[in-house]
Amino acid sequence: MKILITGANGMLAKSVIGKLKKYNELICTDVSELDITDREEVLKTVEEVKPEYIVNCAAYTAVDKAEDNFEIAEKINADGPGNLAYAANKIGATLVHISTDYVFDGELDVSKSYVETDNVGPVTVYGKTKLHGEEQVMQNTDKYYIFRTAWLYGDGNNFVRTMLKLGKEKEELNVVSDQHGSPTYAEDLANIIKEAIEKKIPFGIYHTTNQKFTTWYDFTKKIFELANIDCKVNPVSTERYIEIMKIKQAKRPKNSQLCKNKILAQGINIPDWEDALKRYLEIELNK
Ligand SMILES: NC(=O)c1ccc[n+]([C@@H]2O[C@H](COP(=O)([O-])OP(=O)(O)OC[C@H]3O[C@@H](n4cnc5c(N)ncnc54)[C@H](OP(=O)(O)O)[C@@H]3O)[C@@H](O)[C@H]2O)c1
Repeated sequence: MKILITGANGMLAKSVIGKLKKYNELICTDVSELDITDREEVLKTVEEVKPEYIVNCAAYTAVDKAEDNFEIAEKINADGPGNLAYAANKIGATLVHISTDYVFDGELDVSKSYVETDNVGPVTVYGKTKLHGEEQVMQNTDKYYIFRTAWLYGDGNNFVRTMLKLGKEKEELNVVSDQHGSPTYAEDLANIIKEAIEKKIPFGIYHTTNQKFTTWYDFTKKIFELANIDCKVNPVSTERYIEIMKIKQAKRPKNSQLCKNKILAQGINIPDWEDALKRYLEIELNK
């Protein structure tokens, strides 16, 4: 099967390419080869390549920087997916697009998790542009998968790498304990994408993070325990963290918990976040 991958140098893209390359012909493009904001170029490439699937791994992911850069974030996160959906529809290809928990306001009680049909209401520029991306995809084609994910880590800058570094340098760290979600290993999300394509599951929006929920604080404690790092972790509220660190940051959702029942009902297996972290650390710590 011929698959076009955009944003091929990104963290998720590396895992997607690794998972899909065995049985497929992959055409991998980074921004210098295909800028997804260039509608004509997108159309030309898609019509030339004629892929059966397009996996859009390109995005503007700098959540805090986006607050002052709506236009560029909107172009990449909303118009870009719109262009890909338009081109995919023209040749009958299926678009796989990645979205985020930030499309919700994060105010849901933490005893609950968000389902795909829950009301959206992003409170950050990044979240708004990603929601516009979902809308543009759905307006331009019926043949789409939108996989909403959260707290992604893999082969790129991410929370786990940052904590491994800080944990070795510092005696204690303050980590927020009032944001709830599921860390998601890029390899596991890539596997969900691969299985969704192979099983030809029904088109639509799916919530796709690793299983079970935690907080950044408990996640950090588990990273240090598994990596044998002796660093004290202090639980702090988001408010206190911002005060201590003297930072200005985009609002973080308190509740990023995404319910996976819809994707699980398709017979796709999703590992727990702890299992995923163990597999990731085996690779990271042996580099
Ligand atoms: N990371 C997370 O925690 C997280 C959480 C929830 C959802 N997501 C979503 O998951 C997806 C993958 O995220 P990721 O962490 O793998 O992102 P990433 O590492 O930041 O990769 C995004 C890639 O897109 C490329 N890109 C930017 N503008 C482009 C353009 N106009 N045309 C083509 N490529 C372009 C970037 O290239 P340059 O680096 O050269 O600009 C980069 O290689 C994104 O849709 C993101 O919104 C991520």
